[in-house]
Amino acid sequence: MQKLIISPSVLSLDYADMNGQIEQLRASHAKWLHFDVMDGHFVPNLTFGPDLLKGFKKASGLIMDVHLMVSDPSTVAKWFIAAGADIITFHLEACENIAGCLKLCDEIRAQGKQVGVSVKPKTPVTELLPYLERMDLVLVMSVEPGFGGQSFMADMLDKVQILRKEIEIRKLTTRIQIDGGINQETGKLAVAAGCDTLVAGSYVFRSDIVKAIDSLL
Ligand code: DX5
Ligand code: ZN
Repeated sequence: MQKLIISPSVLSLDYADMNGQIEQLRASHAKWLHFDVMDGHFVPNLTFGPDLLKGFKKASGLIMDVHLMVSDPSTVAKWFIAAGADIITFHLEACENIAGCLKLCDEIRAQGKQVGVSVKPKTPVTELLPYLERMDLVLVMSVEPGFGGQSFMADMLDKVQILRKEIEIRKLTTRIQIDGGINQETGKLAVAAGCDTLVAGSYVFRSDIVKAIDSLL
């Protein structure tokens, strides 16, 4: 398994204190910054556009881990790549079929960016298994996407175990990221099941940012 990476989700950041919060992120052991893009259609919530990502990238110096919860990932991916995204993760459910999903993976990689594919809680990961070398990351959602602060769905760990087994057998470098309800306890369960990348929003930003991130490592 690769070294554990923590990707704090800016969805829960205190926007009344952006400078202070970004300063704490810079002082922390976070390597990535998780940027939740929602279009009000794929999920019932609306968040950030590419200009905000530009600002976060410049101010934080972190790797921009963009999670697209949008119905048209192919178009939106282009906007965020132009704005400086380093990793683009989109949802399997937003693709017409697996061929469309793989095509978008190839297109994102062809632009020199890492690519991830995400699955909502009700979507199995089995369809992705034969194609894991085509993605840098698989994101297992452990809540219904759309909002921060929800409870962790422990049964999602079965998907993590299935992915970890396949990745080890085939000696791949694909990362397994988990997103939703991650705190010190659930983070440990996720790592034990095989995750190497943890997204955490409310747990990190509703307390001491530096300490919360350290407690996940
Ligand atoms: C939810 C987002 C998450 C969210 C996680 O749709 O994808 O990244 O910020 O928030 P917590 O960690 O509070 O569950
Ligand atoms: Zn997310």
